[in-house]
Amino acid sequence: MFPRGVAVGMTRRLVHIICLVVLLFAKDIVMVKHGDFKTCQQSGFCVRQSAFADLVDKVPSFGSQYELLPDSLKIDEGKGVVTAHLLDQKQKTPFIFELFLLEHDTARVRIKEAPPIKPRYELLGDLALASSLPASVPIAKVNRTSTGEEIAVHFGVSGKNLLVLHARPFRFELSVNGVPAVSFNDKGYLYYEHSRSKESTPALENQAASAADGNVPVEEGANKDDEITKLQEALNKDLWEETFNGKTDSKPNGPASIGFDVSFPGSSNVYGLPQHASTFSLKTTRGENREYDQPYRLYNLDVFEYILDSPMALYGSIPFMMSHKKGVSSGVFWLNSAEMWIDVEKSKGTGTLSKLASYIPFATSKETSATTTSTHWMAESGVLDVFVFVGSTPNDIFDSFTAITGRPAMPQHFATAYHQCRWNYMDEQDVADVNAGFEKHDIPYDVLWLDIEHTDGKKYFTWDKTKFPNPETMQNNLAGTGRKMVTIIDPHIKRDDGYYVTKEAREKGLFIKDKDGNEFDGWCWPGSSSWIDYTDPAARQYWAEKFQFSEYKGSTPSLYTWNDMNEPSVFTGPETTMPKDALHHGGIEHRDVHNVYGTLLHRSTYEGHLLRSKNEDRPFVLSRAFFAGTQRYGAIWTGDNTAEWGHLAASVPMILSIGVAGVVFSGADVGGFFGNPEPDLLLRWYQVAAFQPFFRAHAHIDTKRREPWLFGEPYTSLIREAIRQRYRIMPYLYTLFWQSTQNGSPIMRPMVSEFPEDENTFGMGDQFMLGKGLLIKPVVQKDQSSVDVYLPKLAVWYDYTSLGKVAPSAAGVLNVKTPLEKIPVLLRGGTILPRRERIRRASNLMLHDPYTLLVALDHKGEATGTIYADDGHSFRFREGKYVLSELSYSSGTLSARGVRLGNDAKLSDADVDALSARVERLIITGLSALPKKVELDGRQLEFTGEKVDGDVYKIVVKDPKAWVGRDWKIHVE
Ligand code: GLC
Repeated sequence: MFPRGVAVGMTRRLVHIICLVVLLFAKDIVMVKHGDFKTCQQSGFCVRQSAFADLVDKVPSFGSQYELLPDSLKIDEGKGVVTAHLLDQKQKTPFIFELFLLEHDTARVRIKEAPPIKPRYELLGDLALASSLPASVPIAKVNRTSTGEEIAVHFGVSGKNLLVLHARPFRFELSVNGVPAVSFNDKGYLYYEHSRSKESTPALENQAASAADGNVPVEEGANKDDEITKLQEALNKDLWEETFNGKTDSKPNGPASIGFDVSFPGSSNVYGLPQHASTFSLKTTRGENREYDQPYRLYNLDVFEYILDSPMALYGSIPFMMSHKKGVSSGVFWLNSAEMWIDVEKSKGTGTLSKLASYIPFATSKETSATTTSTHWMAESGVLDVFVFVGSTPNDIFDSFTAITGRPAMPQHFATAYHQCRWNYMDEQDVADVNAGFEKHDIPYDVLWLDIEHTDGKKYFTWDKTKFPNPETMQNNLAGTGRKMVTIIDPHIKRDDGYYVTKEAREKGLFIKDKDGNEFDGWCWPGSSSWIDYTDPAARQYWAEKFQFSEYKGSTPSLYTWNDMNEPSVFTGPETTMPKDALHHGGIEHRDVHNVYGTLLHRSTYEGHLLRSKNEDRPFVLSRAFFAGTQRYGAIWTGDNTAEWGHLAASVPMILSIGVAGVVFSGADVGGFFGNPEPDLLLRWYQVAAFQPFFRAHAHIDTKRREPWLFGEPYTSLIREAIRQRYRIMPYLYTLFWQSTQNGSPIMRPMVSEFPEDENTFGMGDQFMLGKGLLIKPVVQKDQSSVDVYLPKLAVWYDYTSLGKVAPSAAGVLNVKTPLEKIPVLLRGGTILPRRERIRRASNLMLHDPYTLLVALDHKGEATGTIYADDGHSFRFREGKYVLSELSYSSGTLSARGVRLGNDAKLSDADVDALSARVERLIITGLSALPKKVELDGRQLEFTGEKVDGDVYKIVVKDPKAWVGRDWKIHVE
């Protein structure tokens, strides 16, 4: 293992020497680190499941071992539930199949052993799903063949969704409005390793051997037998023990892996499955021309200096994938927190789906020549509990997926502003100096962060008394300038008898145990450490209570939290994490809960913030590890990136992939964590991150200081301007955050979700939309003087700075000049974008400042927009204390309408005015002529106008004194 693990806990000096050595040999380490993490070939269950799939490809009869027993079928039409017995014909193992039809065009399929010899871990909804799940929907119509071999179930509005279940071999297909969307077990890769005792294992081997002797037809070619024998042998690899890099996983429960395939007929792109440093449209990992030679891996890991363009696992895992083709979007989510590997393969045609033709007339020649993307999902343990979503656009899928895993939390206003972090701001003077630097250089920022060095010996919830003798005064001083502070609190607890957290957690038995039942002891930043078991409700409660002001000495209401190393990172553990045979509450093995562990810490801290403020203050917690449902607790960042152009480029598809999987509040360390960015790289990073959801600069302790003013001109001014861009659009951004609490729509969106009709956008991940109105493309190369941007023809586009209309080529490409002060930012016609132009030192000080409305007209001379505003910090918005204004421009009239959702909001005009502000400036671009007059309620408004690029006119209307949240109309004649 990399020396990092060994180094921790040694004296600071030694650590620094090691760091120096590390930096000297950084190049080699990247190579060495690759070997610190498993490939599929080094992971027993990945070998076994892959071998099964290969066998099925070579000997199709292998894949037909599961059969639904038609006689056992029960259909409850009213409740939308179908159940049946499923039999593994080869192993003679019985399973229960359950299908639940839910609102939001969702089908949930569960397959469980009936009953298992050993209990299998079921990830309870409580740990990963929304508190209330979508209701079940009745079956609209059922068709059944006389033999009961095929059952066609219609559900959803007007029965538009059709799920066809096939008994022999077992599989199902889902179509929407007659178009096939998703097919399960189309390739026959379903393979459920039944639970067993160690003694019964030879039987399995015999079975495999007999298959080789008897059932397997031998095709021509001498090597085939060898190949098949090898594959069959591989089915038994590492069933009861597995060793990697000298560390052995004892696997007391033996094999329990599950694999299945899901195909997206007629669809060339799949997205999601974060976290990987890869493309947005996922690359192929299987088949002849595969782009990666490894499947995508989902296993939360602390990867030192992660490499780019790779399916290797990183800090977070969300087993959710989305696909889109014109007219149909779909998604698949496997509720399972064990390690997973997922293969992606593309092939011509639509698989075996023509069998659906007896139910729906879809099989057009166009469909059969299309590409189908097939995916093979493999998990080490747990149960098969899969949600399938269908709809017409990606937005439908975001809505359905977050209806299941929970809507994103509404962040506080300050959390959506700019954050300044580094490992470490060393003492109170340093904090004061950095704060003063922002003041002096007139650069806004909202939050100053303290990393691990602020603690007393890496004991969280404590302060280094020499460097931070007066933490409360320090926080209050910051708060006095409208700013907040964040401190880091990690889940590894120093094994120091004098440390109260260790003592208390030990007494209460809240630590994870090793396989023998002793407190697990591993190494992390403090040296020898134990880990709180957040799967235990008592531990979560205990942890939450630690955030009470009376408990966390030196904390104040303006202090928030950063949870790091929660994969968990264990320097001495296998693959730098917790051994899989470590034990959690109730005797659950770590392997079953690994991917959700970090999120349970995130949740517990979130609950701690609620507790300390008596549910008054919205929590802010940043986590590094994440899982499905993380969006309910806060933000994540993409981990330890590097100050290189490639990492800047990679941040875009990474944040997009994380966002489509529900976690809408994410960002990358601005500037890159490791290494020292050249000033132009740092500037380019600020310019794009200003338009990304979580906007924080951060740097490794060994890097040079890089506060925004340290690079001289023109950089100080240009970085200032990039940050100010962020503060200008905060009313727009805050509205996007609110919208995502309603429907799960990402803040930073892939082109495909805004232009689902434009096939050119389907594979695109290097440019993005911020909401529906702004298109951003980063500059990701040194000295790049211009950048090509793709502008979908369905829209009219304006340059965000000049507000002139741009003229892309016939193919939709616009070449944008990119001098240092500019990256391509385009405004989509049809948008009304709210801004605040009076930039202050921190965003909360701007909350009552007047708005500027930017109206960019579309082809028809129309535009729409929304403004959401609330008090920026409390939960009173849940009682209706918010302002929601719907704006629309059409036929020369800009109309504003205050909207109330539900019946909970009874705000007076005074309440509305207190939560919002007036419009002090109205800018309209895209007019075909200069208007003669502009008026509001018969009052003539002053305006100026000019012709801008693209033969359109822009006007600026001065102070119309119209209040956001009230109803009014402005006429432009
Ligand atoms: C991890 C984090 C990094 C942090 C460091 C020290 O490497 O990813 O952000 O600065 O630990 O806490």
